[in-house]
Amino acid sequence: MSAAWSPTSWRGLPVQQVPTYPDLDKLASVEARLKRFPPLVFAGEARSLMRALGEVAEGRAFLLQGGDCAESFAEFHPDNIRDTFRVLLQMAVVLTYAASLPVVKVGRIAGQFAKPRSAPTETLDGVELPSYRGDIVNGIEFTPEARIPDPERMIQAYLQAASTLNLLRAFAGGGYADLHNVHKWNLGFIAGSPAGERYRAISDRISESLSFMEACGITPASVPQLRTTEFYTSHEALLLGYEQAMTRIDSTSGDWYDTSAHMIWIGDRTRQPDGAHVEFCRGVKNPIGLKCGPSLKSDELIRLIDTLNPGNIPGRLTLICRFGSESVGEHLPRLIRAVEREGRKVVWSSDPMHGNTVKAASGFKTRPFDRILKEVQTFFAVHKAEGTHAGGVHFEMTGQNVTECTGGAQAISDADLSSRYHTHCDPRLNANQALELAFLVAEGLKAERDEAARFAAAK
Ligand code: PEP
Ligand code: CO
Repeated sequence: MSAAWSPTSWRGLPVQQVPTYPDLDKLASVEARLKRFPPLVFAGEARSLMRALGEVAEGRAFLLQGGDCAESFAEFHPDNIRDTFRVLLQMAVVLTYAASLPVVKVGRIAGQFAKPRSAPTETLDGVELPSYRGDIVNGIEFTPEARIPDPERMIQAYLQAASTLNLLRAFAGGGYADLHNVHKWNLGFIAGSPAGERYRAISDRISESLSFMEACGITPASVPQLRTTEFYTSHEALLLGYEQAMTRIDSTSGDWYDTSAHMIWIGDRTRQPDGAHVEFCRGVKNPIGLKCGPSLKSDELIRLIDTLNPGNIPGRLTLICRFGSESVGEHLPRLIRAVEREGRKVVWSSDPMHGNTVKAASGFKTRPFDRILKEVQTFFAVHKAEGTHAGGVHFEMTGQNVTECTGGAQAISDADLSSRYHTHCDPRLNANQALELAFLVAEGLKAERDEAARFAAAK
């Protein structure tokens, strides 16, 4: 890896998962246009997120990251944005309440468009076409025209990200996220579910506490944190031409930031230590995520940490572990031990989605809720055994009432999958399943806190 970095230094290196654009002049002209568009986020916000994640790395906070596997142009609707935001708020309330820990909220939203694929082509009824790579690259329809990568899609993705982020900022700061609304986030089909009932019990207690605090003079006017929330955006930094075009020097620090999102991550398929994606990400100062799958060797992880976080800054690097419920017990301990041995500060997060994808008998890709839960529980158990902080979770989820993952309290069966299967890529938890999982994660987090308190008391 060369020492000199620039937003273009990735271009000479081996790169995986790149679309083949037929018209390179058009690609260059779109990238030049994007370069002149306003940044989507401000570097100071990315630094705030880095500080918040630093607290997670030190064991004093918890990361909740979630949203669509792939955002799409077709599902772009204010209700979808609101519903994802709302479930994330509900989950954060459950986690904060159970563990008395600040929860850092990061959406896979406002830019999560590009998808890595396991094969460059897809065959259906004997017809072979290029794979769908996300709406920022090509169309999902199974036609030769739709599958041609079109650079103009980057402009549409940028515009959709900008207006999504605008609404999220309005929700976060404009009153929707006011804790006094804690009951109102529990509307619609969630309210009557078992998780919705449990949520109502917590929100009753929060409302009581707020009334008590108000009687003591602690009001939204005196404490603005009651009225607003911090909400951050993230996506996989896969389409490097787009990310490069959004990368700017921050005038206040003189550093480079990728202004397409607060946090970006490197996928499990593109984390080659000498590859283009690692090269690009090492030079921007945003918080970075690194997906860690079963094939990641311990010494390779340390090498990646050296490259991505040479200053060992807590909050700079989040390791998003996605081993699968059967493999997490084998791989997570060796990685934790390597990181601890080398004294590296990282956030450990569990993505229990990507190692647990199966094909149902009906032909749909699905993820059984039990396996998702088992991976998260093992993640907590391993951290407990190693004495490290289970820092966060990373879910593919939606606020909609979809039927994409089997199981959960609603007991979605294989036969139910076809009724509301809307994802553009991987199967997502629906709002009920996501909330249910938040309660189960909260139990793990509470056990960790109780253990730490016992340990402190015994000293
Ligand atoms: C994803 O997060 O959608 C994804 C493709 O994950 P991974 O890189 O871990 O397979
Ligand atoms: Co996915």
